[in-house]
Amino acid sequence: MTKLETANLTRRFMGLVAVNNVSFKLEQGEILGIIGPNGAGKTTFINLVSGIIMPSEGTITFNGRDITYMPAHERARLGIARTYQLIHPLENLNLIENVMIGSIFAKGSSLKEARRKAERLCEEMGLTNLERDTAKLTILEIKKMEIARALANEPEVLFLDEVMAGLNSDETKDLIATVKKIAAERKLAVGVVEHVMGVIRELTNRVIVLESGELIAEGPYEEVSKNPRVIEAYLGGAA
Ligand SMILES: Nc1ncnc2c1ncn2[C@@H]1O[C@H](COP(=O)(O)OP(=O)(O)O)[C@@H](O)[C@H]1O
Ligand SMILES: [Mg+2]
Repeated sequence: MTKLETANLTRRFMGLVAVNNVSFKLEQGEILGIIGPNGAGKTTFINLVSGIIMPSEGTITFNGRDITYMPAHERARLGIARTYQLIHPLENLNLIENVMIGSIFAKGSSLKEARRKAERLCEEMGLTNLERDTAKLTILEIKKMEIARALANEPEVLFLDEVMAGLNSDETKDLIATVKKIAAERKLAVGVVEHVMGVIRELTNRVIVLESGELIAEGPYEEVSKNPRVIEAYLGGAA
């Protein structure tokens, strides 16, 4: 079942076409990798589907409903959640409060409900000592906190923008297993932006490749990683 779909999605910034005519579908229960060199338009694409910015052209559909110009907070309420490439804990709030704001803002839950839900989510994510100041958390704990905050909103679609960045290999393994578990239990549709190809191989069912804003390849990682245009895009990006 298709949860999210874009058709000819385009976003220009002055002369630059950051996302160029991208048509894609995200299915319930799948973990989709979104890969491509730096500046390819991956974050802009997530900003467009989550409503942080509006498209120049094209359409976005969620559960068959046109949400192309819907404000971000309404999309969050409908069930589209995301994390940010740059972590941003709210520093005057502790760990559990940072998770609670997910349900308070998006769902309008009471404080009591929000706390109960946040406790359950933290347990599920393997987070303990929930009254800790965010300054005391490891990067892995902060990443988990941000995913828990996104889940507090009870999403059907979740985008993770470079959530593994900054983690060592044990922490990466932990987070891969955690993301797989939370996605499977909720039959979530997940889109992950990730640079480490080992993570993409382990975590995703399918990938799309962006280069200069265009979708240049799509398919299982094993197949896409052999595509000459994809290899060229990465080598070109590194040169
Ligand atoms: N708000 C903005 N204003 C102008 N240019 C932007 C803006 N956001 C992104 N860009 C440009 O769009 C392109 C794609 O950026 P981005 O989506 O962040 O790429 P990625 O996440 O794939 O590294 C880059 O050239 C970037 O500089
Ligand atoms: Mg990015």
